[in-house]
Amino acid sequence: MKFVLNKFDTEINFIDKFVDFPPVHKIVIIDKYIHKLYKSKLDLFLKDTPTYLFEATEANKILAEVENIYSFFIKNKVNRESVVIGIGGGITTDVTAFAASTFKRGCRLQLIPTTFLGMIDAAIGGKTAVNFNGIKNNIGTFYPAEKVIINTEFLKSLSDIELKNGWVECLKVSLIVDNGLYEILKNNNIIVTSEIIEKAIQIKVMHCENDLHDSGERQKLNLGHTFAHLIESASDYSVKHGEAVAIGVRKAADYSHKEKMITSDELKAINEIYDKYKLPKTISHEIKNKINVKGKKLIQQDKKAGKKVKLVLFRGLFDVVVKEIDDYKKIIDLMIQ
Ligand SMILES: NC(=O)c1ccc[n+]([C@@H]2O[C@H](COP(=O)([O-])OP(=O)(O)OC[C@H]3O[C@@H](n4cnc5c(N)ncnc54)[C@H](O)[C@@H]3O)[C@@H](O)[C@H]2O)c1
Repeated sequence: MKFVLNKFDTEINFIDKFVDFPPVHKIVIIDKYIHKLYKSKLDLFLKDTPTYLFEATEANKILAEVENIYSFFIKNKVNRESVVIGIGGGITTDVTAFAASTFKRGCRLQLIPTTFLGMIDAAIGGKTAVNFNGIKNNIGTFYPAEKVIINTEFLKSLSDIELKNGWVECLKVSLIVDNGLYEILKNNNIIVTSEIIEKAIQIKVMHCENDLHDSGERQKLNLGHTFAHLIESASDYSVKHGEAVAIGVRKAADYSHKEKMITSDELKAINEIYDKYKLPKTISHEIKNKINVKGKKLIQQDKKAGKKVKLVLFRGLFDVVVKEIDDYKKIIDLMIQ
């Protein structure tokens, strides 16, 4: 996987950064909203390139939409040498990558993430996905993009809510390994810098490069995710992934503290960084009630759960461990308290 990261404060000419593609047959799947927003800047790049405008919603991250993309590929004579380029947030890059990985058993794939979350997480590490049967990311493949182009210019149009989703993942990885990111975030004025993006990507890559298929080291990145999936399912996805993970990391810290795996000072340090970035800490009574009633079933549905739940817990401030837990009640009790 190759990364191209533009420096944050430089004047960026979109086209200059994009035209370095080899002159091959290329096809673009782009978030419809990004296309509208950046049309004039992308015009030259998209000129003479078949461009599929994708409505980036969770409801649209489905097999039926992938079939539409396959039809678009066929219409535009995509073959295994063609470069499929996904431009958008995680929904768009997940769907694009899934379609590219399965069409003719795999085409070339390049991604241009446009959200903070996409830049440090969704476009990195090769997981592709669609939602199926009411379960998020139920179907997918492992298929790393050959190139990920990060142009921080896109972040200027990102809403505060979407920026927050990125911060959640960024804070999460800063707590898993100490590569200096936590300290930068502690002293930062809640501004995304290229240094922050680079360091967050470094931690993600560190965990994925030797464990593409998520059977070992990579599982540490699921910190907070068991709790988060529970919240997302119980809320019928009205709680965004980022919000759910923010609460999930706090719950993982609470759980670790209860099990005497971290000290009160370490728990405080974890909560303080999430407080600084004003990230959510609680769920509504309605969601708590749903978790109380349907929690066990929802945990069992979690695609990563076998008989036991794999819970990522803190063993220290920059040290996490994957534990297999068969006592769902402990998780549910912690969620509804
Ligand atoms: N593959 C992975 O490893 C991985 C990791 C994390 C998340 N994900 C997936 O990513 C998805 C969430 O992705 P996301 O939060 O990056 O964004 P998104 O694709 O959900 O987009 C969120 C919204 O922001 C808009 N948007 C995108 N870029 C913008 C920009 N530059 N300016 C203004 N608006 C913009 C989109 O049109 C959309 O309305 C989820 O489906 C999740 O499952 C995948």
